[in-house]
Order: sequence, then C-alpha cells, then structure tokens
Amino acid sequence: MNSEQKNSQTENQWEDLYRDGLGAPRYPNSYAVRWLFGNFSRQDISQTHILDMGTGMGRHAIMMKQEGFQVTATDHSQTAIDKAQYWATHEGLDIAFSQASAENQPFPDQSFDGILCYGVLYYLAPDKLAQSIREIYRLLKTGGSTFVMIKNDRDIRKIKGESCGPHQYKITGDEEGQPWNNEAGMSLTLLPKSEIEKYFSDFSHIRIEEVTSTLKDSKYLEAAWLIYAQK
Ligand SMILES: C[S@@+](CC[C@H](N)C(=O)[O-])C[C@H]1O[C@@H](n2cnc3c(N)ncnc32)[C@H](O)[C@@H]1O
Repeated sequence: MNSEQKNSQTENQWEDLYRDGLGAPRYPNSYAVRWLFGNFSRQDISQTHILDMGTGMGRHAIMMKQEGFQVTATDHSQTAIDKAQYWATHEGLDIAFSQASAENQPFPDQSFDGILCYGVLYYLAPDKLAQSIREIYRLLKTGGSTFVMIKNDRDIRKIKGESCGPHQYKITGDEEGQPWNNEAGMSLTLLPKSEIEKYFSDFSHIRIEEVTSTLKDSKYLEAAWLIYAQK
C-alpha cells in the first residue's frame, strides 16, 4: 500500500467514525489553551486570526471564537466540518469552516497569526505529514506561532501496531475501552524527536516537549510531542 492509499484509508475511517456518531471531546485541551493565551493575550485578539487545522468537531475553534479571536477551521472529514458548523451555529458563533486536507490548505501565504494542529498529523503518512508542516510554515505570518500535538514513538500504539513503513504502524487490534479502539486499521506515523526536529528545521524558537500518561493500571503508556514553533 503506498502513502496515498494509507492516507485515504485512514481519512475514510475518520469519515465513517464521524458518520457513525463518534463522541468527540467537547472541552479544549489545556496545553492548547495555554499556547493560545501565552502567545496572543498581549495583542488585539479581535485582529488575531487563528487556523485550527484538523479541527474535528471543532472544540478548539469554538473556544477560540468564544474568546474573541478570528477563527478559520479545516478538516479532511466533511461530516466533522458539518457537525462543527452545526455546533458553532447553535452557539451563535461565526467561524469559517471548510473541508480541506492538512497537506493542501486553500489559503494564501501568510494568512494566519497562529496555527493550532492538535492530534492530527500522526494520522498522515510521513510525506504528507512533512507537506502539512510546510503548509503551516507557508500559512503563518512572519513572527506567527504554531502549536502541534503529535503522538510519538513511545506511545502504546507503536506496540499495538504492525510496522508498515518507516515510522509507520498499522493498528491491528482494537481493545474495548482504550483510546485507540477506533483506530484499528489506521496507519499511524509515530516519530522520534530527531525526525520532528528535521521536519521543523525551517522554523525558529522550536520547543519540543513530551507529555505522557498511563492507561490500564499503568500497563500502557500514551506519549506525545508538544511542538511549539515560530516563523
Ligand atoms: C483525533 S481527531 C482531533 C480533532 C481535533 N483537532 C481535536 O483536538 O478535537 C483527528 C482529526 O484529524 C482529521 N484528519 C485526518 N487526516 C487528515 C488530513 N489528511 N487532513 C486534515 N485532517 C485530517 C480527522 O478527520 C480528525 O478530525
């Protein structure tokens, strides 16, 4: 299976999950909130434009708009976008939602002051993942800031997956009640820190931190990179 096929299988699975009524989280991640206010609270928020790339059902886009930012949000899944739009409309929030792949965003260069991409890029094959990071760089204004969360190569998903390419693991079994239960069949890219450093080498002020937690009485480790960078 080439990277195009792996990507589209994973993307189609996301579409199915949303169609089947996936219960996505409603509350924003605390690291995303800290990044937002740590970077942008000293400027005029109403003039600060943030892109939420891979927005899912829109929990971060909604929070950012409620706080007064200008918000644009994209996701590969049209169903996710429809559900996020429905939620925003219900809240009376004007957010520019559109369907688009992370690796091919339909916006001009230097469109955004900030780009959030939380829990998305490890679902892409390495070439698409790299292309998405180039898109983040292209779309950021000079001096703009990005925050990317990506599961890493210490995560339990690597052990639960079958190697299917460089740093790629196909999740073979599900396990009732565990967070990767919905990901069986998906091909994930789980990178070491050295690869992340390469992918972000065009950026400045790069900070890569690891965040971990355990599952099932500490039997399983979930591990992710939190990547903070500026253009
Ligand atoms: C774990 S969810 C995270 C959603 C959201 N960022 C959040 O924090 O709630 C992963 C999202 O990545 C999206 N996705 C997967 N492949 C994608 C791609 N190539 N381009 C854009 N989005 C993609 C899925 O549709 C899904 O909404």
